[in-house]
Amino acid sequence: MTQLAQKNIILGITGGIAAYKSAELTRKLKEQGANVRVVMTNAAKQFITPLTLQALSGNPVSDSLLDPQAEAAMGHIELARWADLVLIAPASADFMAKLAHGIANDLLTTLCLATESPVAIAPAMNQAMWKNPATKRNRTLLSEQTVTLLGPASGKQACGDTGPGRMLEAEQLLQETISLLKAGILTGKRVIITAGPTREALDPIRYISNHSSGKMGFALAQAAAAAGAETTLIAGPVHLPTPSGVERINVTTAQEMHETSIDITPGCDIFIATAAVADYRPITAATQKIKKTEERLSITLTRNPDIVTAVAALENKPYTIGFAAETHDLLNYAKDKLRRKNLDMIIANDVSQDGIGFNADSNAVTAIWSDKQQVLPLASKQIIAHQLISLIYTQMKNTQITLNK
Ligand code: PMT
Repeated sequence: MTQLAQKNIILGITGGIAAYKSAELTRKLKEQGANVRVVMTNAAKQFITPLTLQALSGNPVSDSLLDPQAEAAMGHIELARWADLVLIAPASADFMAKLAHGIANDLLTTLCLATESPVAIAPAMNQAMWKNPATKRNRTLLSEQTVTLLGPASGKQACGDTGPGRMLEAEQLLQETISLLKAGILTGKRVIITAGPTREALDPIRYISNHSSGKMGFALAQAAAAAGAETTLIAGPVHLPTPSGVERINVTTAQEMHETSIDITPGCDIFIATAAVADYRPITAATQKIKKTEERLSITLTRNPDIVTAVAALENKPYTIGFAAETHDLLNYAKDKLRRKNLDMIIANDVSQDGIGFNADSNAVTAIWSDKQQVLPLASKQIIAHQLISLIYTQMKNTQITLNK
């Protein structure tokens, strides 16, 4: 089966020893029916020849910003419009830094800025370079620009070191590309996603909240929109850009998130509750700043409405997915929430582990539905989001087939 038939992929290659794997990747993308155009940086040509990639892709390799052969001599604009996906593998630390800061001084960086299609990068570098704070900052900037990070893997490196920074293998990159390009599976569907924290006011300047950054919910909204869904994001207070093609409704409190969800959910097909909603709010919020007059201060809290439970109780409820953020006994608590909240699926999120869950760029989750479950191992929130959208689509379809039987 050719899973990438008629998909136009620009494979960008930057300078690094992992460039040899790009030849294999080109062959695999072609085998799956993709049209592949290779763009190389000057450094990449020190590691692998354009001739090899021309032979494997069946297309001339581009390397120059000003191309006299291209219409209006603007090869970067033509390529940027042609691509369904721009995939950079390997992406060096230098290339990531340029992309993160919008520097466009060669063909590859320029077409990444000019394209409106998704951009994914497969980093490859020495483990110390990957861990360097400058590279970490660049990774954060890139995920804010909704660039998808594929990998890197950890292990023995060409320089003799061991650690994170190995480019993913060609087969893994092929599978990631297939899931990134599975556009269209949600065409005609309406998806609502809650994301981020809520804030519950104590007085005009203080509130109760949590560490949710909104990254997981925003990544899901981006993946749902990329899969063709009409997507609405109900966002708590976070500082993230709205993914392209997504409608965003900003809310602050759990009660606002609840009202908005109940207002707009009728007629929607999928509801994903990623938000970390405050379970309680102060029973009254002081109208003026609370002064430091007492030695002890008691605040009485009252329960907030449970949004996802209310959505799952609606007549003609959408396919409803919750998240369970737990620090211990993860699967048991998640299964209990799946049942108690009458959900179709729950995503168990172990938030006791460093580097995943709240405010991290990566996640690792277990999706649980009926009596089945699937582990999605550590990956960027963008990749987890694409995998979840694919899984949700498949399970929703299976449920409908069973109901219609
Ligand atoms: O935002 P990030 O920094 O990217 O972090 C992502 C995340 C860790 C917040 C996310 O992956 C996650 O796990 N979200 C659920 C967090 C949570 O509060 O879980 P919970 O176990 O308290 O709630 C269970 C489910 O009920 C959730 O789907 C929640 O949205 C929903 N809920 C909870 C309370 C409430 N009053 N209304 C709700 O709808």
